[in-house]
Amino acid sequence: MVATPQQDSRDDAADERRFLHVQTFGCQMNVNDTDRIFQVLAPHGYQPTDDPARADLILLNTCSVRDKAEQKMLSQLGRLAPLKEYNEELVLGVAGCVAQQEGERLLKRVPYLDLVFGPDHIGALPELVAKVRDEHRRVAETTFKKRKAFEFVEAEAPAEPKVSEFVTIMKGCDKVCSYCIVPFTRGREVSKSVEMILREVERLVAGGAREVTLLGQNVNSYGKDLAGDRVPTFAQLLRTVDAVEGVERLRFTTSHPMDCIDDLVACFADLPSLCEYFHLPVQSGSDRVLRQMRRFYTVADYHEKVAALRAVAPGIALSTDIIVGFPGETDAELEQTMALLAAVRFDSIFAFKYSERPGTKAVKLGDTVPERVKKARLARVLALQDEITRERMAAYVGETVEVLVEGPSRMASRGLVGDRWQLMGRTRTNVIVNFPVPVGEFWRKRHVGRLVKIEVVEAKSNSLFGKLV
Ligand code: SAH
Ligand code: SF4
Ligand code: F3S
Repeated sequence: MVATPQQDSRDDAADERRFLHVQTFGCQMNVNDTDRIFQVLAPHGYQPTDDPARADLILLNTCSVRDKAEQKMLSQLGRLAPLKEYNEELVLGVAGCVAQQEGERLLKRVPYLDLVFGPDHIGALPELVAKVRDEHRRVAETTFKKRKAFEFVEAEAPAEPKVSEFVTIMKGCDKVCSYCIVPFTRGREVSKSVEMILREVERLVAGGAREVTLLGQNVNSYGKDLAGDRVPTFAQLLRTVDAVEGVERLRFTTSHPMDCIDDLVACFADLPSLCEYFHLPVQSGSDRVLRQMRRFYTVADYHEKVAALRAVAPGIALSTDIIVGFPGETDAELEQTMALLAAVRFDSIFAFKYSERPGTKAVKLGDTVPERVKKARLARVLALQDEITRERMAAYVGETVEVLVEGPSRMASRGLVGDRWQLMGRTRTNVIVNFPVPVGEFWRKRHVGRLVKIEVVEAKSNSLFGKLV
């Protein structure tokens, strides 16, 4: 994915104009970090470009959560390498989680690579790039800052914020899930100050955003690392952001089931802007596997959380993450995961084959489930969920839902289908809804950023189709 926020280059400080091309892999954290990369380099004359051949600086913002993600990045680097033959000045760098994990090793392994830096060093990027460009050095910067020394790059709003925007509220993860590399690539948890979060939210809303998603690897831990009486818990932070004028919809991601506690559940009953949607990764339906994963909850605990959420918000949509083929997982344990899916009836899931990650605790368990077995298990899990998702989507037909209009439908070429504009938005439960409006800028402009009522006429596999009420 190529990220190109519409940013002014405030190049009063810039001596010349340069072009920056960034390719982003992985999760929303990386997408948000890419925006910060553009932000810190703009005052140094770097303008975004979609075209790598035109760029003076190319950065790959990488993910290492599974082996496949890492391989993808390496082959992409190989594809970009020939550009250096045409442009001797081109600086090629790797950012993000693979950079943090590999550091110097990546410079040794990839001779044409100039720069490697971890997510903690985005603020120092102008100096790092200057070292490469002016001193002709190859640079790797992956030391983790101490918790106290870490500073967030405060997000400026893009010139035209989207209707729905993300705000990072913390970095890192202090959990110790045995399969997961994120604590190694993102370091310890550090929370952003409430003041900075509120400034960012207010700026986005002032620019036109209507929906805000608070972002972190485990947002429920928010504030635990900050000292002082005035530091809110995550639930209190939600209440504060809910009260910001202009925030019509509030979401958050991601949460750990252990930290999904009563005060957070109560928010779903109390906060008008908090949408009825919760992504709560369960990973497995087997208590033995969950113990080996070091998740610190049982299947029964998980069911209790789901029941508590459904008690306060009956229509709440739930999604989850599942890993199949964790070391030692038996056929019977896979059946337990299937049973969990059938019992909870999630609205959607993300399911992955276990991928051994270097340095994680699970390595010592071996990678015991053969690839073909993992593949077959993944197919079973996905087939069951497809059926459930289809039924849940079908239940929307005939209902009238509230949709926040985001813009032209992605299915339509520039929004036009036949003689009608087709717009898209989401329900509070996070389902995409497409609907037509008569041709004309007037209609289109009138709807984008608004909450409208849509009667659902048809359910597709991953979206709904409806008409304005
Ligand atoms: N902090 C978030 C996101 C973690 S990564 C959370 O805890 O939910 C997103 C998902 O990737 C995880 O929920 C897990 O399902 C999956 N994942 C992480 N490590 C993995 C691995 N080694 N192999 C396969 N899937 C993995
Ligand atoms: Fe990884 Fe677990 Fe942290 Fe999520 S909570 S990022 S799965 S260690
Ligand atoms: Fe990937 Fe790093 Fe996100 S490993 S999932 S980009 S935190």
